[in-house]
Amino acid sequence: MQIIHADIVYSENSKQLAVHRDSYVAVEGGRVKYIWSEVPEEYSSVPVTDHGSDVLIPAFSDLHVHAPQYPNRGFGTDLLLEDWLEQITFPMEARYADPEFAKLAYDAFVDHLIAEGTMHACVYGTVHTEATSYLIERMDKKGIKGFAGKIGMDRSAREDLLESPEKALRETEAFLEKYSGNRNTKPILTPRFAPTCTGELINGLGRLGKKYNTGMQTHLVESLWEAEQARLLFPECSCDIEIYERAGLMDNGPVIGGHFIFPSEDDIHIMQKYDCYAAHCPDATVSVIAGIMPAGALLDRGIRIGLGTDISAGHHVGVYTQVGRAVQLSKLKNFYEPDGNNTISFPEAFWMATKQSGQLFGDTGSLEPGAVFDALVIKDLSDAAVKLTPEQKVERFCYAGTKEDIAARYMDGEEIPDGTDD
Ligand code: GUN
Ligand code: FE
Repeated sequence: MQIIHADIVYSENSKQLAVHRDSYVAVEGGRVKYIWSEVPEEYSSVPVTDHGSDVLIPAFSDLHVHAPQYPNRGFGTDLLLEDWLEQITFPMEARYADPEFAKLAYDAFVDHLIAEGTMHACVYGTVHTEATSYLIERMDKKGIKGFAGKIGMDRSAREDLLESPEKALRETEAFLEKYSGNRNTKPILTPRFAPTCTGELINGLGRLGKKYNTGMQTHLVESLWEAEQARLLFPECSCDIEIYERAGLMDNGPVIGGHFIFPSEDDIHIMQKYDCYAAHCPDATVSVIAGIMPAGALLDRGIRIGLGTDISAGHHVGVYTQVGRAVQLSKLKNFYEPDGNNTISFPEAFWMATKQSGQLFGDTGSLEPGAVFDALVIKDLSDAAVKLTPEQKVERFCYAGTKEDIAARYMDGEEIPDGTDD
């Protein structure tokens, strides 16, 4: 057993933070065993790691991030989705045909995730099997719990990013065979989105999902253009998600729909029926998508929402930056369209990025007894003149902190380096 002293903050539920000021967490077998305000006499011989007035929080989960776009972060986002894909994103993704390039970029990406306090993630690769294999192996080796997928796309993009549906399905199946037994990072089916996938590919992925009991991530109703394309290309479906439902892609494991900004009633019903997650990516939506998810309204209807960075439509690798941004966007949505669009609170946004999305990765995203101890120690960002409460320390970090404010990282109960070690 080890004992750690700090202020301790995690989500009690969607609306409330659990706060243990100046307390002790006892960790055993990689999980939280107890939280105490004083160490009981019988444990007095166990050494205590003292983090003083710093604050211990659960590590974050990123529900939507494109690893190959990491070298593009922070530029090109003055374009809108269609042009941005063609001019910025696809040329970068094409470079992952070169395994040496992929290795350099993916090593840096995975290190940066951990440095920013992200220990659980749903990650997109590219169509390239060799590069995506390296990505999933690297994530798994570094202990990132989550999913990584070889992208499926077989139409409407540059030639060198398209595969025939036969090749895509053959190589996806080999990817599933090879990595389904991974300890930390599992494969996930990843049809890019309706405009770049044929029915043949999506239906084939549905068969693989069933055979290998594998879930799916994709982009859903992310822009009016995309929703319209979905309707034009798949006229037999009443809405975007029905394309995947009909293919049997919702029945086999977690389903994470990126963005979900312009859902129809039918989209919402299907999301509810299969308990899917919507990945809210605030920076990305104000950059290349230019739409705001009705997060408050969707939460009111019981849709599960987690947060995503959507690198490189979003520009910051730390999911914690998206917590404050989700609150800000809900206020804008409410200002311009007050009807039904309740704002969300800081505790709700923090819950989305920790406890709510942590359920996708096992018992993570919380520090309650029984939870896997994936945790961060955040420096006390109080001013000399004004001391912050534990809740305020967390809120200030999410709004104004950087990875340099993460004083320690624990994964499965063990302290780990900041991501840059092998
Ligand atoms: N839609 C299809 N592909 C992408 C992508 O790479 N990023 C974003 N944000 N949306 C997409
Ligand atoms: Fe995306």
